[in-house]
Amino acid sequence: MAEARFQPRVFSGIQPSGNLTLGNYLGALRRFAEMQVSHETLYCIVDLHAITVWQDPAKLRNATRELAAAYIASGIDPEKSILFAQSAVPGHAQLAWVFNCVARIGWMYRMSQFKDKAGKNAENSSLGLLAYPALMAADILLYHATHVPVGEDQKQHIELTRDIAMKFNHDYGTDFFPITEPVIEGVATRVMSLRDGTKKMSKSDPSDMSRINLTDDADAIAAKIRKARTDAEPLPETYAGLAGRPEARNLVSIYAALAGETPDQVVAAFAGRAFSDFKPALADLAVAHLSPISARMGELMADPAEIDRLLAAGAERANAIATPIVARTYEIVGLAGR
Ligand code: AMP
Ligand code: TRP
Repeated sequence: MAEARFQPRVFSGIQPSGNLTLGNYLGALRRFAEMQVSHETLYCIVDLHAITVWQDPAKLRNATRELAAAYIASGIDPEKSILFAQSAVPGHAQLAWVFNCVARIGWMYRMSQFKDKAGKNAENSSLGLLAYPALMAADILLYHATHVPVGEDQKQHIELTRDIAMKFNHDYGTDFFPITEPVIEGVATRVMSLRDGTKKMSKSDPSDMSRINLTDDADAIAAKIRKARTDAEPLPETYAGLAGRPEARNLVSIYAALAGETPDQVVAAFAGRAFSDFKPALADLAVAHLSPISARMGELMADPAEIDRLLAAGAERANAIATPIVARTYEIVGLAGR
């Protein structure tokens, strides 16, 4: 539990690495927009995380603006939420260094995202890729955030953030950092690939057919859903009846998340029918949700200077919260700078 003295504050981040997917939308963006109604919210474009693997500089700059556009098009109001780029607020890197010295190397080697991304040649991955979770802890704790909405894949990183906060508090005899709670809710916290129901839908999957991108047009969305892998069985009577059918489960979960229904309601409505009947209905639903978002992203991207202006205003607000927290951290640690 976060300590009572910390005001509820929500922080989350997404990497500007292109190809935002339906998984990002259902697992993250849409939930972020919902939370801004009831909470103080900070939403970050984590460009320092993106460079843990090499990025083309011009593409990175463009992906940062595109992600800002996606946040806004998904309903994040840059007046209400604090929307900004990580590299524009120096406190992220400043606090990350301190946490690099608090966290243990062994904790980092245990992270499944590191293992996946580093692959067989871990010795040759960047030091930043290994230290990635300490920067993520800094993102969150720099604002004393108490709640972090994320998809299922980030749970281990939030647990590590809690471990870092606890170790810092213990090592320095303080209760300065809150113990943050992950918020992993809803039926689409893990949207799976359209080609393989055991793999998560990902920006970085080499097959574009495996994912629905926020920028896909209606024809592309319909074609990808039509070609999505399923099995020959019809839909059962209950969601539980989909056990052992990961691709079928995934499509039902996506439908439920988009329609705002429970998976059981969706299965009941299509019970006994073939996936060839279900897929056109799912495609219509996906197009109805995503078309306005991609249209709005297009409008926003037509004025990059305005996006830059909004991000600069967000960074200023974020910095106002972060600066005293960095100063106090440095004081606790005995560092001379403020
Ligand atoms: P990333 O694209 O890895 O920067 O992820 C940004 C956010 O989207 C994180 O909160 C992830 O947990 C969430 N996310 C990414 N892919 C999926 C997915 N396939 N299903 C649900 N959430 C996802
Ligand atoms: N690691 C997250 C991802 O890959 C992105 C991220 C960076 C993040 N900093 C964060 C998410 C802070 C939540 C809070 O999806």
